[in-house]
Amino acid sequence: MKKIEKAIAYEPTFEEDVRKGLTVYPKYLLSKYIYDQKGDKLFQQIMDMPEYYLTRSEFEILRKNTQAISEIFNGKDGFDLIELGAGDGKKTKLLLRYLNQENINFSYLPIDISPSVLQELVTSLKEELPTVEVKAQRGTYFKTLQKLSNYNSRKKVIIVLGSNIGNLHHKDAIDFLKNIRYAMEQEDILFMGFDQKKSPQKILDAYSDSEGITEAFNKNLLIRINSELDANFKTDSFLHWETYDPESGTAKSFLVSKLNQKVKIKALNLEVQFHAWETIHTEISQKYDDKVVNWLAREAGLQVETSFTDKEKYYKNYIFKIDY
Ligand code: AVJ
Repeated sequence: MKKIEKAIAYEPTFEEDVRKGLTVYPKYLLSKYIYDQKGDKLFQQIMDMPEYYLTRSEFEILRKNTQAISEIFNGKDGFDLIELGAGDGKKTKLLLRYLNQENINFSYLPIDISPSVLQELVTSLKEELPTVEVKAQRGTYFKTLQKLSNYNSRKKVIIVLGSNIGNLHHKDAIDFLKNIRYAMEQEDILFMGFDQKKSPQKILDAYSDSEGITEAFNKNLLIRINSELDANFKTDSFLHWETYDPESGTAKSFLVSKLNQKVKIKALNLEVQFHAWETIHTEISQKYDDKVVNWLAREAGLQVETSFTDKEKYYKNYIFKIDY
C-alpha cells in the first residue's frame, strides 16, 4: 500500500491571500473568496443558466440512479452522509427523499463555508423532510475534514457534488483527496462529481454567458475587496475573459484591466498598479476523463469502484474506496 501523508493544515486569511495574489506576477485571486452572500446568489443564478449544463447533468445522474446509489451508500448499521460544500442541497435532496422513504437509517451532515446557505438548507429540510436527522456544520473543507475522522461509529459516506474539485489544480486536488482518504475507514465511501471533457465550445459557453452573470460572479472578488478591505477597484475597467485548453482540460477565468490604472487597498496599506491588458487570474474549472480521475485517486490512496454518467456523457459521479 502507498503511504499517505496528511497535507499541511495552515489556512491563510483573506487579507494574506489578497496581498499575495496582487503583489506577484502574474496576478491572481482565489475563487473560494467569490462566495459571500452576493456570490452565493450569483452562483445560484449560474446554476439556472441554460449554458451551465453541469447542474442538470448531475441532477439527471442522481435522479436516474437513486436506488443503485442508495444501495451502495447503505451499511449494516445505516450510515452517516457527510456532504462537503452542500450549497442549496437541491441534488442531494433527491437522495435524501429516497433514503427517507425507504426507511434507511442515516443522518445527514451538510458542511458549507457559507452560513446563510447552510441556514437556508436546514430550514428547507425541516419543512420538506422533517424526519431526516440533520447536523449542519459551517466551515471550510479543510478544517471540517480534520474533524471527520472522529466520525467513525458507523459507515461514513462522504459526498462532494457539483464538480467542486474542479477549482483545484491537480496537485491540490490530490491533497484534498488525501485529506478525505485520511478520514476514511475500510468500508467508507467517497462519492464525487467530476465534469468531463467534451466539446470545447460547450465548455466555453458554460463559463462565458452573454448575460454577464459569470462576469458579475468573477467581479464579486473585486467588490468584496472594495467593501471588506476598503479598496477602490472600478469594476467597469476590467473585462471577464474565459479560455479552455482541450489538451489539459482546464477552463480558466481572468479579469483583464482595460487600462493603465492604480488601485488602493487601504486595509492592506497597498497600492496595486495595473498595466493596460494586465490580467488577474480568478478561477480554474478543470474537466476530467477516466484516466485522470483514476490517476488522482491512485495518488491519494483511493480507487474507483464504479461510476455513473448522464445520457450525453457530459458529467460523471464516481464511487471511491480506500485502495489497499
Ligand atoms: C462551483 C466550482 C463547480 O467551476 O463550474 C461556475 C463555479 N464558476 N461558473 C465551476 C463556477 C463559473 C463552479 N464550481
